[in-house]
Amino acid sequence: MSVMTHSAADYTLDPASFATIARITHAHAGITLNDGKRQLVYSRLAKQIRKRGLSGFGEFVELMQSDAQVRREAIFALTTNHTKLFRENHHFDHFAQALRPRLIEAAERGRPVRLWSSASSSGEEPYSLAMTLLGDNRAAGARLVQRDVAMLATDLAPHVLSVAKAGRYPGEMAKDVPERYRRVWTTMEGDQMVMAPELKRIIAYRQLNLLDPWPMQGKFDAIFCRNVMIYFDEPTKARLIERFAELLAPGSFLYIGHSERVIGPATDAFEPAGNTIYRRRG
Ligand SMILES: C[S@@+](CC[C@H](N)C(=O)[O-])C[C@H]1O[C@@H](n2cnc3c(N)ncnc32)[C@H](O)[C@@H]1O
Repeated sequence: MSVMTHSAADYTLDPASFATIARITHAHAGITLNDGKRQLVYSRLAKQIRKRGLSGFGEFVELMQSDAQVRREAIFALTTNHTKLFRENHHFDHFAQALRPRLIEAAERGRPVRLWSSASSSGEEPYSLAMTLLGDNRAAGARLVQRDVAMLATDLAPHVLSVAKAGRYPGEMAKDVPERYRRVWTTMEGDQMVMAPELKRIIAYRQLNLLDPWPMQGKFDAIFCRNVMIYFDEPTKARLIERFAELLAPGSFLYIGHSERVIGPATDAFEPAGNTIYRRRG
């Protein structure tokens, strides 16, 4: 008996299938796939077609339309999760200087401190923010953890959230962490860098699609939404900014990616506070 197998190169991504994949991905995750993404779509989804033993893109697209699980997995595979510890470091410098002293004082008075990393990917952004908040003194940081201090870290893609929750990274990534934080909040286990339990204690990882309703009700002191709006169209970006404005306390900050802008009707709710940093008015 011969078993037919397909290699990724066997499949053809016809224009109609590409258009349907792009439409579904946009409708469910806001992600815009223009013609330049054809090769990316091909290589990411060919793996799923092969894994499922399907005949090609035609059959896969039919399944994407009828089976929610296939659709979800396809969309997760189409996300771009590139990130880095202390990426766009000027945001963490700003947070340390402009916001941290106020948040520590508030936490010591018993007030809740709330942060949100809204497209956290594999955790590098929330861990960088947690280290910046806890500072370079372990005893003082450990005291702060006992207060009402919490960070929500969310992403659409479960495969990156499980890396984030584990808090273990290849040792060579240690070079991205400023030395004063690295010596306090990370340890090396073999060739892996492990995040300290105090960091993990204040971060709650959850799966959340930014397009869906949000369960959070209290106001945030800072929201990081970096390098995800680039994948969205203008109305989706504008709506997202509006929703962030509703959830940010007066005087709090919104941090966005280096090529992103605050747009839409909520623009007036913010004043520029630095390079891609916006202060919530009020
Ligand atoms: C390029 S990464 C950015 C990671 C991090 N914020 C940074 O700047 O380094 C973009 C992340 O956005 C997530 N994403 C894409 N569409 C999303 C959506 N609709 N809701 C929530 N997260 C989404 C992806 O899964 C991916 O992990």
